[in-house]
Amino acid sequence: MQATEAFVYTANAARVVFGAGSIRHLEREIDALGFKRALVLSTPEQRASAEMVADLLGARAAGVFDRAVMHVPIETAREARLIAQQLGADCAVAIGGGSTTGLGKAIALESGLPIIAIPTTYAGSEMTPVYGITEGGMKKTGKDPRVVPRCVIYDPELTLGLPVGMSVTSGINAIAHSAEGLYAPDRNPVINFMAREGIAALGRALPAIRLQPTDLAARTDAFYGAWLCGIVMGSVGMALHHKLCHTLGGTFNLPHAECHTVMLPHALAYNAAAAPEAMRDIAQALGGPSAPAAVFDLARDNGAAVALRDIGMREQDLDKACDIAVQNQYPNPRALDRTALRALFQDAFEGRRPE
Ligand SMILES: NC(=O)c1ccc[n+]([C@@H]2O[C@H](COP(=O)([O-])OP(=O)(O)OC[C@H]3O[C@@H](n4cnc5c(N)ncnc54)[C@H](O)[C@@H]3O)[C@@H](O)[C@H]2O)c1
Repeated sequence: MQATEAFVYTANAARVVFGAGSIRHLEREIDALGFKRALVLSTPEQRASAEMVADLLGARAAGVFDRAVMHVPIETAREARLIAQQLGADCAVAIGGGSTTGLGKAIALESGLPIIAIPTTYAGSEMTPVYGITEGGMKKTGKDPRVVPRCVIYDPELTLGLPVGMSVTSGINAIAHSAEGLYAPDRNPVINFMAREGIAALGRALPAIRLQPTDLAARTDAFYGAWLCGIVMGSVGMALHHKLCHTLGGTFNLPHAECHTVMLPHALAYNAAAAPEAMRDIAQALGGPSAPAAVFDLARDNGAAVALRDIGMREQDLDKACDIAVQNQYPNPRALDRTALRALFQDAFEGRRPE
């Protein structure tokens, strides 16, 4: 797509502070936003990071809530919201991956409590108005500008300890946002540029991180890519790939980033003939023979699982997954065809490399 065509571009107004050591600017950022007391959010595993943030904030720290978990159960969001109220917090600082950012978003959605996000994975949630909340075993998702963080601090030093396996799958999760952005009906030249740049940065960075997990330059490059891919996801509509992953994660409880990593080559292969320009851009950004094969090779060559059967999917559930996937029609370059989708699921289950 070229800038000679008419288009609409809406930017989500998040301020970004980027670079190694940038967490030291947190207090400055909170001051600039006019906030006085922050509730710090984290998972139990990242309690130490949350305490480090609370120490940085000193008197501006209202407390730490360390019970963020995957899929944001509504009970956890309500509890955190209540604690924020009791402690007199006027903002939340979410340090962690998509699950912790997601908790911050769920609090913001109901109470309007503004969020400052300090991401530590490449999932990209901090750049999107998309939220997800699980109630009674059902995850509902929606879009609301109130959940977009007011400020995002990308400090690559905080990702030095992200295990290589999670770095690779989380990075490919980010690539998936840009890949689908490149064939979104509401895409535009600005988003296309960010998508290509984001994919290329992650395509360079992930192999370097696998070789040397503490390579700060590679970590910085990966965060830059993740940021751009997050913007893409937050700005244009996602399609088949994200819907399939939502089904697999929600119904079969498959791990989020791993599921994206396995499914992306197959979703791209499904859409390849219907979105040739996007495929060319993805292949070029990754320097591979074709978009599906290049994503598959990036995952496999860097040690990620490439088969659904290796991340907890049972073969007898493939039919059910396929039924759910075709239930709702949504914008996708190629129409949803049950037979072709069933073949896609089989390929993904077995981890076949798309040719
Ligand atoms: N709303 C959106 O726009 C959006 C976008 C992407 C993902 N998500 C959601 O985010 C969730 C997945 O997020 P995720 O993949 O970032 O994983 P996650 O947030 O669930 O984190 C997984 C684990 O890794 C730990 N971790 C995170 N950063 C670490 C680090 N630097 N070092 C060591 N451990 C670290 C976490 O504490 C957690 O235990 C899913 O629920 C998904 O739906 C939402």
